[in-house]
Amino acid sequence: MLVTAGPTREPLDPVRFLTNRSSGKMGYELAHAFSGAGHTVLLVSGPTAIDVPDGVDFLPVETAAEMHAAVEHHIGRMDVAVFAAAVADYTPAMVAPEKIKKTGERITLELVRTPDILGSARESFGFAGTLVGFAAETENLEANARDKLRRKGCDLVIANDVSKPGIGFDSDHNQVLLVFPEHTEALPLATKHDLAHQLVQAIFETHAVKRC
Ligand code: CTP
Repeated sequence: MLVTAGPTREPLDPVRFLTNRSSGKMGYELAHAFSGAGHTVLLVSGPTAIDVPDGVDFLPVETAAEMHAAVEHHIGRMDVAVFAAAVADYTPAMVAPEKIKKTGERITLELVRTPDILGSARESFGFAGTLVGFAAETENLEANARDKLRRKGCDLVIANDVSKPGIGFDSDHNQVLLVFPEHTEALPLATKHDLAHQLVQAIFETHAVKRC
């Protein structure tokens, strides 16, 4: 099993970076639950404050580009890949070699797209296993998640509404929709720990059906 988790850090200069509020909890709970169920797990993670679960192989990365390279290198030997990381969609066009000094009243940052790691899995990496993505949305949750499922060739997209307070980003709780190609299932509000076990069950069932 491959699990990506956490935020990425996109450097601006030697002391600053762009990042997001992802704590990594959902991905780490998933890695823990997969490992507890007896599977070999590689966790590719951006920087978090969480201990690596026992028995999980760990590959730390910082940037979206590093996460892309790590996934590209390892995904070929995986049966299941779950992309729980909150990968930066944009990165600074240039990393200043020295600390950026303050000058005028405003400065403008130029950002360029990062590689879409989940979107590379099927065609670019040739991954044929069970592919699971996450969708963090603030509107049209199910429709946007279903669109993501189709565009990126996923078997399942786990969708959560990040506009709701108390769930999702940087929280201990989450409430998700499981969006499959043919149907959608709503799971009740749960701790990320409890939810991880339900998600692992759903992912195993998806994997079993795919192999038939
Ligand atoms: N993801 C990824 N690489 C990126 C961006 C996102 O692998 N550069 C993965 C995330 O780990 C998650 C899924 O893609 O599983 C959803 O990310 P999101 O940014 O919401 O999807 P996008 O398709 O980029 O859609 P949009 O930004 O338009 O909502």
